[in-house]
Amino acid sequence: MKLFALAYLGVLNILLATKVWQGAYARARDVVSDMTVLEKVNLTTGTGWGSGPCIGNTGSVPRLDIPALCLQDGPNGVRFTDFVTGFPSGMAAGSTFNKDLIYKRGKAIGREAKVKGVNILLAPVIGPIGLKAQGGRNWESFGSDPYLQGSAGALTVEGIQEEGVVAVARHFIGNEQERYRQENEWTGGDWDRLSSSINSVIKDKQMHEIYLWPWADVIHAGVGGIMCAYNKVNGTYACENSYLLNYLLKTELGFQGFVVSDWGAQHSGVDSALAGLDMTMPGEIFGDWCSGKSYWGPLLTRAIYNDTIPQARLNDMVSRILAPFFAIDLTLPNSAHEEDSPNFSSWTFHTYDQEFPFQSYGPIKQTNYHIDARDDFTTKTALEVAREAIVLLKNDAHHLPISENDGVRRLLIAGLGATVDPKGFNTKDQQGVNGALFSGWGSAAVNPPYGITPYEAIAKKARERNMVIDFTTDQYDFDHVDDIAEYADMAVVFVTASSGEGYIEVDGNYGDRKNVSLWHNSEELILHVANRCRKTIVVITSTGPVDLEPFIDHENVVAVLWSAPLGQFLGTAISEVLFGEVNPSGRLPFTIARKSDQYVDIIDKIPIKGKPEDDLNRLLDYRYFDENGIRPRYEFGYGLSYSKFSLSDLSIKEVLPPTIELPYPAPYLDEYLFAEEKLRDVDDALFPFNDFSPVPGFIYPYLFNEKIYSVNEYEYPAGYTEDDYHEEPVSGGGLGGNEALWNTLYSVKVEVTNIGDVEGAYIAELYIDFPVGPDRKTPRQLRGYDKVYVKPGATAKLHFDILRRDISIWDTEDQSWVIVPGTYKLYVGSSSRRLELAGEVEIL
Ligand SMILES: *[C@@H]1O[C@H](CO)[C@@H](O)[C@H](O)[C@H]1NC(C)=O
Ligand SMILES: *[C@@H]1O[C@H](CO)[C@@H](O)[C@H](O)[C@H]1NC(C)=O
Ligand SMILES: *[C@@H]1O[C@H](CO)[C@@H](O)[C@H](O)[C@H]1NC(C)=O
Ligand SMILES: *[C@@H]1O[C@H](CO)[C@@H](O)[C@H](O)[C@H]1NC(C)=O
Ligand SMILES: *[C@@H]1O[C@H](CO)[C@@H](O)[C@H](O)[C@H]1NC(C)=O
Repeated sequence: MKLFALAYLGVLNILLATKVWQGAYARARDVVSDMTVLEKVNLTTGTGWGSGPCIGNTGSVPRLDIPALCLQDGPNGVRFTDFVTGFPSGMAAGSTFNKDLIYKRGKAIGREAKVKGVNILLAPVIGPIGLKAQGGRNWESFGSDPYLQGSAGALTVEGIQEEGVVAVARHFIGNEQERYRQENEWTGGDWDRLSSSINSVIKDKQMHEIYLWPWADVIHAGVGGIMCAYNKVNGTYACENSYLLNYLLKTELGFQGFVVSDWGAQHSGVDSALAGLDMTMPGEIFGDWCSGKSYWGPLLTRAIYNDTIPQARLNDMVSRILAPFFAIDLTLPNSAHEEDSPNFSSWTFHTYDQEFPFQSYGPIKQTNYHIDARDDFTTKTALEVAREAIVLLKNDAHHLPISENDGVRRLLIAGLGATVDPKGFNTKDQQGVNGALFSGWGSAAVNPPYGITPYEAIAKKARERNMVIDFTTDQYDFDHVDDIAEYADMAVVFVTASSGEGYIEVDGNYGDRKNVSLWHNSEELILHVANRCRKTIVVITSTGPVDLEPFIDHENVVAVLWSAPLGQFLGTAISEVLFGEVNPSGRLPFTIARKSDQYVDIIDKIPIKGKPEDDLNRLLDYRYFDENGIRPRYEFGYGLSYSKFSLSDLSIKEVLPPTIELPYPAPYLDEYLFAEEKLRDVDDALFPFNDFSPVPGFIYPYLFNEKIYSVNEYEYPAGYTEDDYHEEPVSGGGLGGNEALWNTLYSVKVEVTNIGDVEGAYIAELYIDFPVGPDRKTPRQLRGYDKVYVKPGATAKLHFDILRRDISIWDTEDQSWVIVPGTYKLYVGSSSRRLELAGEVEIL
């Protein structure tokens, strides 16, 4: 394999953009050509934590009416503001396996962001890919499979960007656990010994076939930005890893937009710029918040003035930052347009406050306009996703849905998960875990306008049916629980397990969960209820797989529902499923094991030298169970319905004949050369103190002083060359890679008949077994899913397109995607292990 490390790759040049991007670049270049170095640097560097209304704010270019760009979390709705929807989590969206709904969710989130004046939305999350069951942020992304992550990520990007907001897919790449993601995140005790972020080791084949896969999808969908992760990959920080950014993203996958650092994930100035980072956020060095100290800002200006970073690189950064706006909306945000500026503050909820409330600085002004960003579409979409995300795991004797005919007149609702955390449903970044789990915690949390609890929603329906309700949230003292469980005709027990982002620790869970058990002694609660109530239903809301073994086979645990955090309509959706107004149709987006040692561990010990390392090459989720012949409790893709379905009539039609080798892509475009700006006096770039006085802690692009040269020559990283490096990989050439990878080779159809007596949705999943070679065995992979609603007795068609990439494997020798000759078995079924239909194609 050739060494691409740190070769500077020049301006978009080598990449064949689609027409849209070419047009966007032409417009972006016009703007960039007219900008000074200071103006360009302003757009690359955040102005600092709290220095602007959003979670990240770039500098502005007043001369050209370009406002400070507003970057805001997040993936489940707009963070740090009011009058927005608390959407179901990414993991919930993934559980719906409903493409149309996943797309609508993206659109709804994008629409609310637009109303609030957000220019760049930090969503969707497609990494973590979900290797580790306890991974803290798995609930933000779509489930433990690259195909699911990729298709859901691309649909979300389309939805967001259609609303005129630039999407940033995150976190690139190998951010599979929260612990040790960043040195200095936790101090005291053991944490002191951490001397670098965790290093994720990913092999070339796993990189392409698993981790990189969804990134190809979002790039293909035209994503405007990509956020690089906190961790290291193969020994180099993700945000200064030239192989990852310059080569994999910008060359092989043809990414046209900008790479922005996770907040404080930048670890060097010149090196990160040369490695392909385009924007640093929030501007400062990690942990040194509000210090005004940045790797870029003035130092980027200095590195341009002293010729350490070529001007072409800066032009490339700014072109990449501006082009996405032209690509999605044909125009840049404009400071003269009110609708382009945020009307909320991430740092205060007061209507009037100081201009920089975080720094307690500046005159009093209106900081929040409390604009209601919700509309019928966004609200309805949040509810629909919540409904379809609920997975029915067990319903042996059909005691669900709840019915008076089943003798249910006295209903017990038990568990903290049925109610609100004593601190409320709107705790800071959703760290309140002693109640219904509307959300995981961290930057992906939203301040929902309300949270409908299971108790509230169920009690209403039960009252309408003249039922008597008992209610307890005691999970430790069981005398009362035992009493009321005796009398209940049916009991519904609400239990949870949460996780979140690494900067918040809850009960010894440093973002990641410290175990796969339910929280708050829930197993004991379930057993106390089930030992006394013959119809006990368990409803689990969790951010990942939980151990079901203590109660799943209990004869009185007659039904079990699972869902990921469902946002503000959690209680509504669950109550509708419990009472049969909605027929559950979600599927598990991960595997639930019988033994916890069958999951991949969180690295939670710091080695002597303080540099934790993580091998991410173990088979992902169901692949591991399948290849090792391990029977899980519930497999990936599993989920029941109140109805029954029968699959038939698998047909496979060849659309395009496959070829073994990828065809060569069209010639790459030539590099566009900007005229170099003749840098005038250093004095011109000094801080214009006469014009204005600096805001404390704010990062400006101006030089600190006239000394632009260091004592020593700059020592470039090994392998760096200033010459443009025109590597044109055969696997590249288009958005998301070689365009032929996206050709449909086969069209597969099946039919499904609803043989039960209630209407409902059915999801067909398509898996492929690849031919086995002497030295290779590709595990069975998900390569399609489709969902339809079917009335009782009716039949509907489901359809899958098999793309070239779906049957390709990564050849590490050729550095290309190839199709291995042989027999491909195609299965269509209702989970990764219930494969009702099979067919095959022979490739010679
Ligand atoms: C850089 O951005 C800041 C903050 O928006 C602004 O005050 C300043 O005028 C900008 N500088 C230039 C050179 O445009
Ligand atoms: C935010 O509210 C202010 C005040 O009503 C308004 O001027 C501005 O246009 C609004 N911004 C957006 C994005 O709607
Ligand atoms: C990372 O390192 C491993 C082991 O040294 C190597 O096999 C692999 O190709 C490297 N991965 C990438 C993405 O460079
Ligand atoms: C697992 O972690 C949760 C949350 O911190 C805790 O409540 C529970 O007791 C732990 N369970 C076990 C078996 O350690
Ligand atoms: C130019 O400035 C950058 C940023 O401060 C510095 O890292 C680099 O060493 C300087 N280069 C030279 C040749 O002095």
